[in-house]
Amino acid sequence: MKSIMITGVAGLIGSRIADWLLKNQPQYEIIGIDNLSGGYKENIPDKVIFYNLDVASEDLKKVFEKHDVVYVYHLAAYAAEGLSPFIRKYNYNNNLIATANVVNECVRFGVKRLIFTSSLAVYGYGNPPFSEIDQPKPIDPYGVAKYACEMDIQIAGEQHQLDWCIIRPHNVYGINQNIWDKYRNVLGIWMYQKLNNQPFTIFGDGKQMRAFSYIDDCLEGFWKAAVDGNASREIINLGGIKETSVLEAAEILKEVVGGSDIQFLEGRHEVKYAYPTHQKSVDVLSYVEKTELKIGLSKMWEWAKVQPVRNQFKWDSYELDQGIYQYWK
Ligand SMILES: NC(=O)c1ccc[n+]([C@@H]2O[C@H](COP(=O)([O-])OP(=O)(O)OC[C@H]3O[C@@H](n4cnc5c(N)ncnc54)[C@H](O)[C@@H]3O)[C@@H](O)[C@H]2O)c1
Repeated sequence: MKSIMITGVAGLIGSRIADWLLKNQPQYEIIGIDNLSGGYKENIPDKVIFYNLDVASEDLKKVFEKHDVVYVYHLAAYAAEGLSPFIRKYNYNNNLIATANVVNECVRFGVKRLIFTSSLAVYGYGNPPFSEIDQPKPIDPYGVAKYACEMDIQIAGEQHQLDWCIIRPHNVYGINQNIWDKYRNVLGIWMYQKLNNQPFTIFGDGKQMRAFSYIDDCLEGFWKAAVDGNASREIINLGGIKETSVLEAAEILKEVVGGSDIQFLEGRHEVKYAYPTHQKSVDVLSYVEKTELKIGLSKMWEWAKVQPVRNQFKWDSYELDQGIYQYWK
C-alpha cells in the first residue's frame, strides 16, 4: 500500500490533515512522525501508523525503509516565533537542521513530492499584503529558519529532482491546537486564559493586523498541494483572506466565551501588519473561505472546554535572557 508521511502529526495542522486524508483518500496508509514536544498523542487519529520519533533522528530512515512513502508533509517544528530569539540554537536545530534530515530521506527514497509548511514569518516587515513574489526578509530566527528551509528544498529540487510545494500558512486555529503553550498562538492562549480565570493578554496596543485561518478551510488545499500538477514547485500563501486586528479578534472571542477582561502588556519585536495575498491559493489550491472567525472560534471553544486540565508549558531557562520581556521572565 502506498503511504503518506506526516511529520508533526500530533499537532494542529498535522493531526487534521491526517484525519482528512483517512476520510477522503483511504487508498493511502498514513504514517505519522512526532516527538510529542509540542503536540499530543490524543490528537493523532487511531488509524495513523505512529512513530514517536524526532525528525532529526537517524531512525527516520528506517521508517522510509519500512513503508512505500509517496508524499511527505513536513510540518514538525516549534513555531514560537516571538520566543525564537531567546532559544536561537534550539530553533535552528529543531526547525532547520531537522528539515535537512527530512530532505535527505525524501531524496534518498525518491518521494513524489515534499510539502513543506513555511510561514508568513519569512516576509518580515514586508509590504502587506505579502505576495509570493515578494523578496523575503525575515526579522527573527524562526522566520530565518523557515526561509532557509525553503531555499534548501528548492536546491534539492534543482539538484536532485525532488518535487516540492511550499505552503506559507498564517495564524491557523481550530480543533487540536495546543492551547497550553504560553508562547504561541494568540487565540489558543486566550482560551487557556479564559479557562483559568485570567484576563486576555495583548502585546502592545492590539492594532497588529492578522488574517486568521480556520484549519478546516485549508485541508483540501493541503491535499492539492501534494497531488496537483499546478502546485508543483510553487510557493503558496494559504489561509484566511480577511484582515482582523488582534483587538478585534479579542472582542469577537469575548462574545464567544461570555466575556473577559483584557490586559495590555509591553509590546514586543514583531511585524505589525502581517497578512498575505490569497489569489494564488484560490487559483492553484481552490481555497475557499467558508468559516468566519466567530464561527470558527465557537467550534474551537466548544472543543477547548472539554479538554483535559494541563499545566501551561514554560521553558525552564532560555538560551538568552537579554531583552526578554517581563511577562516571560
Ligand atoms: N499554526 C500556524 O498558525 C502556523 C502558521 C505558519 C506556519 N505554521 C507551520 O505549520 C507547521 C505545523 O504547525 P502547527 O500549528 O500544527 O504546530 P503544532 O505545534 O501544533 O504541531 C507541530 C508538531 O510538531 C512536533 N514536533 C516539533 N518538533 C519536532 C521534531 N523535532 N520531531 C518530531 N516532531 C516534532 C510537535 O510535537 C507538534 O506535534 C509548523 O511547521 C509551523 O511552523 C503554522
